[in-house]
Amino acid sequence: MLGSKERVMESLLSNAPTAPEQATSKQKNPAGSSRFVRACLRQPVDRTPVWLLRQAGRYMPEYMAVRKHHSLLEICRTPEIASEVTITAAERLGVDAAIIFADLLLPFTPMGVDFEFLAGEGPVVHAPVRTAEQVRALQTNRVAELGYVAEAISKVAKHFAGPRADGDQLGIIGFCGAPFTLASYMIEGSSSRNYIETKRMMYGDSVSWPLLMEKLVEVLVAYAAQQVEAGADVIQIFDSWAGALSVTDYRAYCLKPTTELVQRVRALGVPVIYFGVDTASLLPTMRETGADVIGLDWRIPLAEGWKAVGEGCAVQGNLDPIALFAPEDVLRERVREVMDAAAGRPGHIFNLGHGIVPGTPVDNVIKTVEWVKEFGAR
Ligand code: CP3
Repeated sequence: MLGSKERVMESLLSNAPTAPEQATSKQKNPAGSSRFVRACLRQPVDRTPVWLLRQAGRYMPEYMAVRKHHSLLEICRTPEIASEVTITAAERLGVDAAIIFADLLLPFTPMGVDFEFLAGEGPVVHAPVRTAEQVRALQTNRVAELGYVAEAISKVAKHFAGPRADGDQLGIIGFCGAPFTLASYMIEGSSSRNYIETKRMMYGDSVSWPLLMEKLVEVLVAYAAQQVEAGADVIQIFDSWAGALSVTDYRAYCLKPTTELVQRVRALGVPVIYFGVDTASLLPTMRETGADVIGLDWRIPLAEGWKAVGEGCAVQGNLDPIALFAPEDVLRERVREVMDAAAGRPGHIFNLGHGIVPGTPVDNVIKTVEWVKEFGAR
């Protein structure tokens, strides 16, 4: 029997795209659908949807006010707070989708890998996973312990139930890491420059590396399933550090497990966005995973990135997040450049090419969203 998400997907996929000029605005964003989800499926939309990577974060005074009283992990693990932070950012910015406030590393805990966030340093894993025994000891049957993320998603979904003032349904994004990026944190123990230990295992241990990939995929599929069950409309898979790999190594060591993850998440009945940083050379191979949407980082011109993944795929991106520090006229021009490159073709979701950084002027973020709405109207 098909779940409701699968039925929506089926009906969206089986509908031949209506020519935008022939459709009424109601047909363009039918009830129960959102322009964000439709764009993921390359369906016509009334205007380009927009949301921003790390839209809830330290640049935002509302988030910092919460952070004053709670650690990052406390926020993530308390559904009342995580949902509130998610909702506040989406409403303050007027974006078309809300990404659940969580972190890539949360699944480490039920796998038996302890970590913490150190101020100014990012995540630290105290006993990095580097031996065959450690990989064998990783647990895959405790994913239910991540239920707090699903609970936060249900709260967000409940808050955003029903159409907004403009008649559109706000999209809810769940997320998880990709096997390579998560493995790199597990093995290095922190952010890394050269990924020496990760690649040492990848090249040199033909038992541990595939087992680690397999265990991560198993946990991530179950985790994504909880999020979809709770109301996530789309799952984004972050392969933030895939750009550290050559095309040969990505193909040899990562394409298979990543494809399995993408396909098993798609089988849950939601579109998948697959995003990485510094991926210009990897884009055609990333497309082979079968993701519905490829997230483009800010280094590649959008039209070139879209060409690399092919027209049969939607794209998300890709303004340089640091352009948000530019004077208004320069920023507006950069936003227009991204919009012009997408040229109103179905299947573009406006976003940044990586996350918003602390110190970004909130007014510029809000203006960017407004300009996308202005330039992206059909
Ligand atoms: O609004 C949103 O986008 C949702 C929130 C979100 C967080 N982490 C909260 C967070 C998301 C989508 C993530 C994903 C994540 N976590 C990624 C992939 C995204 C990317 O940037 O490519 C990565 C690599 C991580 C791991 C991670 N978490 C790092 C490297 C750091 C330190 C980064 C820094 O800027 O210091 C974190 C901490 C973190 N996760 C913060 C937030 C808001 C900032 C720290 C804080 O609030 O104390």
